[in-house]
Amino acid sequence: MRVIQVNDYAEMSQKAAEMISEQVRKKPDSVLGLATGETMLGTYAALVNEHQQHNTSYRDVRTFNLDEYIGLDATHPNSYRYYMNERLFRFLDIPLAQTYIPNGCAPLLEEECARYERLIEQCGGIDLQLLGIGQNGHIGFNEPNTSFASTTHVVQLSESTRKANARFFPSADAVPTHAITMGIATIMKSKQIILLVSGKRKAWAVSHLLEGEVTPAVPASILKAHPNVIVIADTEALSHV
Ligand code: GLP
Repeated sequence: MRVIQVNDYAEMSQKAAEMISEQVRKKPDSVLGLATGETMLGTYAALVNEHQQHNTSYRDVRTFNLDEYIGLDATHPNSYRYYMNERLFRFLDIPLAQTYIPNGCAPLLEEECARYERLIEQCGGIDLQLLGIGQNGHIGFNEPNTSFASTTHVVQLSESTRKANARFFPSADAVPTHAITMGIATIMKSKQIILLVSGKRKAWAVSHLLEGEVTPAVPASILKAHPNVIVIADTEALSHV
């Protein structure tokens, strides 16, 4: 695991955007794994900027998002599909049909999970997976004590995660109780992973990731076992290390 220390959120975002666009220039039909949350907003803004300035084309790129809330459809402002369309996809030349996000409104959720997992394989696997981290060390929506062998599945969100994400919803009760997420094994199959971490809120999770043992109690700790992970973390996120 390589750690790149940066000063702040802006620098983290710029660096991540540079790495993603470099990947797309190097391999125009890249399969990108994408994430949501506040952490990614700056990266997507920087990526759009880069696309507009340098004309990097996303025409042949395919993307797979990590997760989606159950029960929120694409028109719901808090769905991750809405987030991705609004923050990134509409500014790029990527056909929306090449952007995949689990369907949290599918009538048969187990089948949706299996379909999603198959789709990733059929596309040849993920070349570059972008990751954030939850305050409790979750990746995607893989909460503490999720099996490292898990593939795409339905999860019940922990109260702490619902609370952490309540800031985006009108009330804490409005945060969905369940989500679909790529599993830990799905994430670990990616050829390369970039984990972005910013702010004091994440300092505990980062210190465990860098200094603690590999344990399902802190899902992100498994990243130590991956051969190609880059962590871009700012000074505040590294303040407990
Ligand atoms: C959610 C997402 C994760 C994300 C995490 C951190 O739980 N499912 O993929 O990494 O939040 O979000 P934020 O970047 O807003 O701190």
